[in-house]
Amino acid sequence: MQVRLKEITKRFGSFTAVNAFSVTLEDGEMICLLGPSGCGKSTILNMLSGILPVSGGEIWFDEDNVTKLPPEERGIGLVFQNYALYPHMTVLENICFPLEIKKVPKAERVERAMKMAKLVHVDQLINRKPKELSGGQQQRVAIARALVKEPRLLLLDEPLSNLDARLRLEMREEIRRIQLETGVTAIFVTHDQEEAMSISDHIVLMRDGVMQQYDKPQALYDNPANQFVADFLGNPPINNIPGVIRNGRFVSDDGQAEAALPIVKGINDGQKVNLAVRSESFVVAPDNAAGTLPCTVTGVFKMGKEEMASFTFGPTAFRAYIDLEEGLKEGQKVQLAFKNRGVFLFDRESGVRLV
Ligand SMILES: Nc1ncnc2c1ncn2[C@@H]1O[C@H](COP(=O)(O)OP(=O)(O)OP(=O)(O)O)[C@@H](O)[C@H]1O
Ligand SMILES: [Mg+2]
Repeated sequence: MQVRLKEITKRFGSFTAVNAFSVTLEDGEMICLLGPSGCGKSTILNMLSGILPVSGGEIWFDEDNVTKLPPEERGIGLVFQNYALYPHMTVLENICFPLEIKKVPKAERVERAMKMAKLVHVDQLINRKPKELSGGQQQRVAIARALVKEPRLLLLDEPLSNLDARLRLEMREEIRRIQLETGVTAIFVTHDQEEAMSISDHIVLMRDGVMQQYDKPQALYDNPANQFVADFLGNPPINNIPGVIRNGRFVSDDGQAEAALPIVKGINDGQKVNLAVRSESFVVAPDNAAGTLPCTVTGVFKMGKEEMASFTFGPTAFRAYIDLEEGLKEGQKVQLAFKNRGVFLFDRESGVRLV
């Protein structure tokens, strides 16, 4: 099902938690809502489910305007962080429960619940109570219970945050498998960039109630819309080298280092910028190469298969993946050039992307 949000806004008193948020989410996709704590992810999910009324804007499911529809008429399956299974019911009874509410006949209920139990791999556990299950198994049951009604939309709010690191990895692959097998359109809330990058078709990245970018995971990384997006994605984080443009050159804030970089061509004199470079996007250039960043090597590191070096450009320190066969030594002066991808220029005040 296609989900269209038109300028949806949520105000709590004078505080705006979600501000004129518009996006169209495509049928059958897994979409991650990503952003730091408090940016409005759960608020958006709760407006989609109908638990929270909107303060403004419209929500459309395919051709239906559902903005004013009560939650039970929206055809939604919900999965939360804390599983929220009924403790006195068995696994099978838990999965059956939404169908019982809908007065589906018992035989059909059990048949559909068993199908779901198989899909999420808890069919061996159907007679157990929730307290006799691991966290991952409980979350599987919660997903089966959310899917048994065959919802038009599956909403998952940080479903993995109660699980330990190893189980998180396993369960995120499982959620993706289940989503692909059922073909259900799903919105998955997380503040974990790696989780979002690894399982989604598209990511919505939020900040302070405002959408920053809606894109495919790799496109967010390769083509960030602004400084916030560039900083939010990537591990290690992107290197920001502050500088100011003087006579068409990139000059460190203390004026001690400068470079004639093609990337700053056409930028206004006096503009304060961040040269943002992913750690994998530096290369060591020959000494007299043009258009490079003159730096000093401050350290070299080997960590298993990873080879890194640290550098300074004027007062700014940063790290890069560098092939150490270059024979770099601490204290050495080098010219750093850039690869074709992972190099951006942002306005320092507004965060607007310039290049
Ligand atoms: N009922 C409410 N009354 C007042 N403010 C609220 C209410 N619910 C949420 N907020 C505020 O709205 C903002 C967004 O909250 P929301 O729960 O959507 O954030 P989130 O992105 O889900 O964060 P987290 O990652 O911590 O779960 C926060 O600043 C929060 O304090
Ligand atoms: Mg939340």
